[in-house]
Amino acid sequence: MKVPFLDLKAQYKTIKDEVNPAIQNILDNTAFILGKSVLQFEKEFGEAHNVKYCIGTSSGTDANHLVLWALGIGPGDEVIIPANTFIATAWGATLCGAKPVFVDCHPESYNIDPAKVEAAITMKTKAIVAVHLYGQAADMDALNVIAKKHDVILVEDAAQAHLAEYNGKRIGGLSKASSFSFYPGKNLGAYGEAGAVVTNDEELAKKIAQLREHGQSEKYYHESFGHNYRMEGIQGAVLNVKLKHLESWTNGRRKVAAKYKELLGNLAELSLPKELPNHKHVYHLYVVRVNGKSLEVREETRNRLQSFLSENEVASGLHYPVPLHLQKCFSYLGYNNGDFPVTEDLAQTGLSLPMFPELTDEQIEYVASKINEFFRE
Ligand SMILES: Cc1ncc(COP(=O)(O)O)c(C=O)c1O
Repeated sequence: MKVPFLDLKAQYKTIKDEVNPAIQNILDNTAFILGKSVLQFEKEFGEAHNVKYCIGTSSGTDANHLVLWALGIGPGDEVIIPANTFIATAWGATLCGAKPVFVDCHPESYNIDPAKVEAAITMKTKAIVAVHLYGQAADMDALNVIAKKHDVILVEDAAQAHLAEYNGKRIGGLSKASSFSFYPGKNLGAYGEAGAVVTNDEELAKKIAQLREHGQSEKYYHESFGHNYRMEGIQGAVLNVKLKHLESWTNGRRKVAAKYKELLGNLAELSLPKELPNHKHVYHLYVVRVNGKSLEVREETRNRLQSFLSENEVASGLHYPVPLHLQKCFSYLGYNNGDFPVTEDLAQTGLSLPMFPELTDEQIEYVASKINEFFRE
């Protein structure tokens, strides 16, 4: 049985009758950039996260840049970022000319470890970017305490965590501003590139909207430098349709996670993702870790498991094979192997299993049976 890592076609089939006319409507009205569809999406997506303002953007990467840019982060500033995240989290800082300062992740949550954040704060630190990685919220209470104590700004990169909850509240409004990605493979994915920033700060929202559109307050009047980071009308239309399904798709992901837990929970050789108390995990990714004695053996076993699954037509992924502090592009920062052991361990021993709401019980059972077979051999 073939089990893809993600099946966007399966989802498209279920919404084709809604999404095709929505796109056709944009074509008929030639409303290609921003416009009504984006305005409606901004309103509804902000409401879904209980946040007052939402600004649609051209991608999650651009949303990350806009947040730090609008906050005035620039050359000479330092921005604290988890070493365990997708590279786009760091581009927010680098595009502003600031220095990313990496911090290890927590062994249970895989999110930035608040206990290690304080040691990374210097006189130059201006912001901390909390990433809700794989779909589970970072420890926002602890991070807010640290940010307050040191007078630095806390923001969220929520690219992987649409509708995730922390202490009964949706993420997005738990800091100064949050960025989201609607890359097609995300829990809420556009049919192209798209992203958004949400914030409760009216001034910041205005600034972000201005930077998104050439720094203009009105057409052809440019108050500041800016960029073209606008969301396309077609993406707004697709996202409006898909937002209505997001809660049910999120429940679908949680059901897949529960089934994996039922079928793999007794395997001593694997650590499964943990949903922490007072968190609602939305399982953008389902990352398991291989247990064992030495790191070398665990890495070798992980690699063999991935090959075995692939031979049996089960796709899997590595998120992320090279931690940010060891990426070539950041060699100028002078980090070394061994600096962030939890992140490095995860890179070497983690494996992302197929995760999307349309996965059938049969597919999940097949994946689990192949994993069990691998460890029984
Ligand atoms: C944690 C994280 N931040 C930022 C991004 C960037 O989003 P985009 O691909 O929409 O630019 C992504 C996803 O790609 C992500 O996973």
